Amino acid sequence: MTLPLSRRAQGIAPSPTLSIDAKTKALIATGIDVVNLSVGEPDFRTPDQASLAGIAAITANFTKYTDASGIVELRRAIAEKLLTDNGLTYKPEEIIVSTGAKQSLYNIFVTILNPGDEVLLPTPYWVSYPEQIRLCDGVPVDLPTTESTGFKITPQQLEAAITPKTKALLINSPSNPTGAMYTPQEMQALAQVLENHEIYIISDEIYERLTYGCEHYSIARCSETLRARTFVVNGFSKTFAMTGWRVGYVAAAQPLVKAMSSFQSHTTSNPSSISQKAALGALGTFDPRTVEEFRARRDYVVGQLAEIPGITCSNPEGAFYVFPNISHYLGQTYTSDDKKRTRIESVDQLCELLLTESHVSAVPGTGFGAPRNMRLSYATSMTQLHKGMERMRAFFTHFSS
Ligand SMILES: Cc1ncc(COP(=O)(O)O)c(C=O)c1O
Repeated sequence: MTLPLSRRAQGIAPSPTLSIDAKTKALIATGIDVVNLSVGEPDFRTPDQASLAGIAAITANFTKYTDASGIVELRRAIAEKLLTDNGLTYKPEEIIVSTGAKQSLYNIFVTILNPGDEVLLPTPYWVSYPEQIRLCDGVPVDLPTTESTGFKITPQQLEAAITPKTKALLINSPSNPTGAMYTPQEMQALAQVLENHEIYIISDEIYERLTYGCEHYSIARCSETLRARTFVVNGFSKTFAMTGWRVGYVAAAQPLVKAMSSFQSHTTSNPSSISQKAALGALGTFDPRTVEEFRARRDYVVGQLAEIPGITCSNPEGAFYVFPNISHYLGQTYTSDDKKRTRIESVDQLCELLLTESHVSAVPGTGFGAPRNMRLSYATSMTQLHKGMERMRAFFTHFSS
């Protein structure tokens, strides 16, 4: 007999991005040549400086507990980075390092939310935001955006959405899954609204270095008032291809960091000592050629999608995802080579078929609050992208109404 799980555990859905990844890996394990466009991690190597710093930490026996909020050298280096790259001034005491930005975000929600508190969430959103908010007894409130608004919220929409129950706004620029970015002017316009409302701002800037023309601008830069109630979230996973090392961080006013640090001290104690040293080694090694490579891949994928009838896709300004709208194919019938017919009712079904029939793995938009879209990652080689797009173009010729 299994005793009942907690209400929290029962309410939580597994990460859809990780579950499509698991299905993909299972197919690959059977020997099938799958083009995996579902991954949310760069295909580049972790910089050698980071790996060597990690190895040096192990050999030097730097393998013990550290300060709950992370070693001071790393927090100091992050403060320098925030100043140089982002024009943000933070002291090391205003920075907390965690086991990935995912933990950073959870620390924030647990620290600020009381039951029923609402968090405004521009939609489409990254899959873990609503789940984490709910885990902390908060209520995610969608702020819908579409291709026609460049997947961005407007100041008017924000003003109208804020109520006495609103505790925070989440901004993710560049965005996962849409790649949308707010220009400095657009960020200033949102900031003007926020000046008049006492709410927190969670600014997830993890894709900040992967931008293709639009300048990244942190909302914490807009004014002192906003900086005081903004949590700037960032990490090493995407910029330095260090997803497995699990290092993320938050910069915020000291009382907020102190509260998160207390919470962290009772959950994970501290981020891995070895990974912290590796992160220290990584800072300053970002190779701008990465951006050029991603830009070329983005242009290729967007160009290929434009040639598939019925698919529309905006040109993302950052991150490494495209988010095409495939609603034209919902309600249509797919006929396989052996004449089996399947009526497609949802993007989930479409992605499943794309995987099993054409061996291309993509993530359905449903988990991102966008059931008419799918997410393709271009964090894979051009060779794989060529193969994947060829297969996709062939796949969509099998549909009829
Ligand atoms: C928007 C966004 N924020 C945060 C994260 C978490 O990154 P990590 O926990 O690897 O630092 C991810 C990872 O996919 C992401 O896409």
